[in-house]
Amino acid sequence: MIKLYNVSKTYAKATFKAVDDLTLEINSGEIFGFLGPNGAGKSTTIKMITGILTPDSGTVEIDGINLADNPIAAKTLIGFVPDNHETYETLKGIEYLAFIGTMYGVPSATVKERVDEYAAMFDLTDALPNMISSYSHGMKQKLSVIAALIHDPKVWVLDEPLTGLDPQSAFQLKQLMRRQADKGNTVFFSSHVIDVVEKVCDRIGIINHGKLVAVDTLDNIRESGKVSLESMFLTITAEDKRQ
Ligand SMILES: Nc1ncnc2c1ncn2[C@@H]1O[C@H](COP(=O)(O)OP(=O)(O)OP(=O)(O)O)[C@@H](O)[C@H]1O
Ligand SMILES: [Mg+2]
Repeated sequence: MIKLYNVSKTYAKATFKAVDDLTLEINSGEIFGFLGPNGAGKSTTIKMITGILTPDSGTVEIDGINLADNPIAAKTLIGFVPDNHETYETLKGIEYLAFIGTMYGVPSATVKERVDEYAAMFDLTDALPNMISSYSHGMKQKLSVIAALIHDPKVWVLDEPLTGLDPQSAFQLKQLMRRQADKGNTVFFSSHVIDVVEKVCDRIGIINHGKLVAVDTLDNIRESGKVSLESMFLTITAEDKRQ
């Protein structure tokens, strides 16, 4: 559902590749956790999957559509929750969600249905008539999660989605991720929180200094019985220092 072939990116004036020859396939019905230390290249990868950044080389495909050749068709399949939760501060929450629904061509009755359900899940119903500028960080984050689901995307990409959420909302978000995957959709999210990744994901990838250094199913890691995901993560990222 998401395919990256030999994708690389170097930022202007940088002397190293933020993402270095990354090849990765994420399947339908799968929750994939993308782990890596600070500065490893997680957000850069996510920005290339969502078409915000263009790779210097390599190819990104979403459901068989080449993102570079057909950006609108590919992006239509994606719901994206960025790490900065930037929204339009001068709109009311409900106006923002209606705007997103219109952008994606979702019928207004469907938008209302989805907004009602998700806002209730995240305890945001009472805040929706208020200006976004009055929202707390966590409330903006929840709004951003809801906005990304308004068009029921085949591919749901979330950058550090659990950081800053209260336990109830984090629980609801994990449930929603599983629900999306069970419908045959794909969930790709980055995280530092190894416990969460361990509980939620079907498969994980570890990136360090722009390179993908491990990909495995959680079942395999568990069955190996030798190492916890945490010790595996710490060992791999400690060994692989940038040259
Ligand atoms: N806009 C930018 N301009 C220049 N360099 C950047 C830019 N964004 C990221 N980088 C660099 O690219 C590398 C990868 O950054 P990236 O944001 O992808 O890491 P990350 O894994 O998401 O880290 P974190 O866990 O801190 O969010 C880092 O060395 C970072 O300094
Ligand atoms: Mg990041």
